Amino acid sequence: MGDEVKKGLLGIVVDETTISQVMPDINSLTYRGYAVQDLCEKCSFEEVAYLVLNGDLPKKKELKKFKKQLEENRNITINLREIVKHMPKRSHPMDVTRTIVSVLGLEDKETNNNSPEANMKKAIRIFAKAPTAIAAFFRARKGKNVIPPKKNLSFSENFFYMCFGKVPNKEIVKAFDVSLILYAEHSFNVSTFTARTITSSLSDIHGAITGAIASLKGPLHGGANEEVMHMMNKIKKPENALKWINKTLDKKEVVMGFGHRVYKKGDSRVPTMEKYFKKVSKVKSDKKFIKIYEIVKKVMIDRKNIHPNVDYPTGPTYHLMGFDTDFFTPIFVISRITGWSAHIMEQHAANKLIRPLSKYSGPDHRKVMLLNQR
Ligand code: ACO
Repeated sequence: MGDEVKKGLLGIVVDETTISQVMPDINSLTYRGYAVQDLCEKCSFEEVAYLVLNGDLPKKKELKKFKKQLEENRNITINLREIVKHMPKRSHPMDVTRTIVSVLGLEDKETNNNSPEANMKKAIRIFAKAPTAIAAFFRARKGKNVIPPKKNLSFSENFFYMCFGKVPNKEIVKAFDVSLILYAEHSFNVSTFTARTITSSLSDIHGAITGAIASLKGPLHGGANEEVMHMMNKIKKPENALKWINKTLDKKEVVMGFGHRVYKKGDSRVPTMEKYFKKVSKVKSDKKFIKIYEIVKKVMIDRKNIHPNVDYPTGPTYHLMGFDTDFFTPIFVISRITGWSAHIMEQHAANKLIRPLSKYSGPDHRKVMLLNQR
């Protein structure tokens, strides 16, 4: 057996998947064979969630049933609501989100049932309930009353309603829906691979998603959308952007929201998200962030040939929608639950324990000396 080290599993194909395909050379991302850009323009987030989970787009009846299932499962227990309300207010919402899914696992009667039927039902319960609990923390930490979900609202409308007590105009809701579609799935990224690794020991879906959330939190992965906003806030105004980015690159610092392990010529999700970022900027009559966005992007491409990833446009878009910066990555979670769940079910269906090897580089074999002889 060769002992060449492939740090970061760079270029290693570890399994097959039918869920999504990333083709960086032709700037393409498909979910179950459908181009993601097409899905954004022609489908609601619920239709795409159904697609990712079930393998095909729903027919009218199937969508109606799926929406009803979500609606019926949206409420959280008093127990979980109280836990969320009593979490330290300074907690990072991603840590709260991780704990929420963990608690959902404690409350679920089928936690240890890994049959395909039980896993699908649990996936739907997590997908429906997590946004309710996340929105509860959004309000509770500001001392505001918790708003329960409302019937006859779409997934996105309902999230806005639970966070702000009202639903914004259609263009804002559509931009949010698009961001959720773009965040839903992305093959073997760090958090998905974490979920599959946890699943490979035949552990349960709540544990796998809890681990995936911890993985997504990191600034090299989903946490980048929050970091992008911190960067924009540091830059403050478009007039400062050129100087800031050149100085940052001179210091050889990493610029958040740029670069990708797979896409080296640009992230296939960015053009669509950029379009909706521009629409939201227009609705909000705020051009400041879009100007900073363009200046930083141009310098990154001109000087480093490094392109933005999807977290670059989502960060300022969520800011303009009114979300607190540290809630950007939990929004990523409420969408990616669909992709993670599909991968967890796929892993269960054809499982092989994930257990790579390591090359030992520690001290040579040595003799243990008794405590008084060391
Ligand atoms: N800013 C500045 N330089 C960068 C950036 C960046 N954002 N990204 C890559 N580079 C440089 C690296 O410094 C490195 O340069 P070097 O060869 O001179 O050392 C070269 O480009 C290659 O980069 P790696 O980090 O080796 O590439 P890798 O594939 O391992 O990393 C990663 C990809 C982690 C995403 C990286 O681009 C990065 O740190 N980006 C910022 C964080 C970010 O935006 N993450 C979100 C990813 S998308 C998502 O998870 C939804």
